[in-house]
Amino acid sequence: MADTVKVCTGNFGKRAQSIHTYRKLGGYSTVSSKLFDLSQFEVIDAVMRSGLRGRGGAGFPTGMKWSFVPRNTGKPVYIVVNADEGEPGTFKDHFLMKEDPHRLIEGLIIAAWALGARSAYIYVRGEFLPCIETLNKAISEAYGEKLLGENIGGTRFSFDIFVHRGAGAYICGEETALINSLEGSKGQPRLKPPFPAVSGAWASPTCVNNVETIMALPWIFENSPEAYAALGTPKAGGTKVFCVSGDVKKPGVYEARLGIPMMEMLESSEFAGGIDGDLKGVIPGGSSTPVLLPEEAAKATLDYEGLAALKTMFGSGAITPFNTTRDVVQILNTLGNFYSHESCGQCTPCREGVGYAKRVLNAIVNGNGRDGDLELLLSLADQYNGTTICPLAPALGMPVTAFITKYRRDFEEYIAKNPQRSSPRLNSNIRPGAFW
Ligand SMILES: Cc1cc2nc3c(=O)[nH]c(=O)nc-3n(C[C@H](O)[C@H](O)[C@H](O)COP(=O)(O)O)c2cc1C
Ligand code: SF4
Repeated sequence: MADTVKVCTGNFGKRAQSIHTYRKLGGYSTVSSKLFDLSQFEVIDAVMRSGLRGRGGAGFPTGMKWSFVPRNTGKPVYIVVNADEGEPGTFKDHFLMKEDPHRLIEGLIIAAWALGARSAYIYVRGEFLPCIETLNKAISEAYGEKLLGENIGGTRFSFDIFVHRGAGAYICGEETALINSLEGSKGQPRLKPPFPAVSGAWASPTCVNNVETIMALPWIFENSPEAYAALGTPKAGGTKVFCVSGDVKKPGVYEARLGIPMMEMLESSEFAGGIDGDLKGVIPGGSSTPVLLPEEAAKATLDYEGLAALKTMFGSGAITPFNTTRDVVQILNTLGNFYSHESCGQCTPCREGVGYAKRVLNAIVNGNGRDGDLELLLSLADQYNGTTICPLAPALGMPVTAFITKYRRDFEEYIAKNPQRSSPRLNSNIRPGAFW
């Protein structure tokens, strides 16, 4: 049955960008004794009980992440909101911030109280200019009403929020690359440990959370952690904001309980309204998540465990179904171009190996595929695992493996068209790319 609980998107279309409207809709009610009577540990405990898990892709339990942030180190604690949103198919955070910026501010006040943070940075993809303007306007309204700044609500709690524009690199969504970029360095991931919770921005304890994760907090404290937990599955509480694009009748941003069947999200008139054409496959959680065949999609539920059971991932909740008119070889080639372009270049298996996969894929779509290319691609994909600083290289390896395994004939048909296919693949057979 279709679902109507709206934790993060309830104010969409209601002009909640204005603080007066946001307040009329019940906003900022948690910035009161409801919050300030709780200790930091009680707030963290409530977030743990809610079952909230990070919505940026990895699904790490938020309360547990917060509990790792050390107290009394003598250094400031920072909160960083990850609003970089560069994964192909993912566009929910952009809408969340544009439609309901005060909910993000309210969520940040709750997080700051819990973590003892004096300042937060919202790291936003630089291209989201109208969204950045909306955020800045909302932040200045919140300062105007003394919800930010010194001595909030007459307490000794003071808190500032800064919006930082990124320069539009996908890798800057990875939390340690984001921190480097925020500090003014090259946006390249750092080796972990230390994890940001212990040593992040300016070598201080730093909590990096996704926009949607923070925006769930006002509802949790307005209703109750238990009510939030009850919306989801036994292993993850709440709702999820899904981005549905591709061959559906109504692409868009839709919020639903965790655990909803995938086909309900794709077919219900409340959500994406049905597949446009005959379904050939579904990318279930963002471009790096392994593709599902229609019979797998029919069994899938939209939650962390449901998708893991089908050997894929929940990811960022970006669902992209495609129909039988689509060319899966071209789809994978596009992903190869993207991940190769976005490699930061630090690790050889990523810089060289992802670039190599891209060039082999380019050769296949250009009619220069060779016998053995599919084995070569599968072997490359295998070699990314565990050999790189961050998961960007495996993020190409996973779709390479899934697409070739599940749609092998489509790839073989391309290769069969090359009369030279039996001559061995040498590096000189592959046209040099920009990064060769
Ligand atoms: C290449 C790459 C890109 C990422 N991009 C984003 C992003 O745009 N937004 C995001 O919230 N998390 C992104 N992540 C995940 C972050 O590293 C981090 O796990 C997340 O921001 C933590 O927030 P959460 O616990 O609230 O999910 C990315 C990770 C990788 C490896
Ligand atoms: S895996 Fe790729 S993107 Fe990640 S740190 Fe290594 S080279 Fe950079």
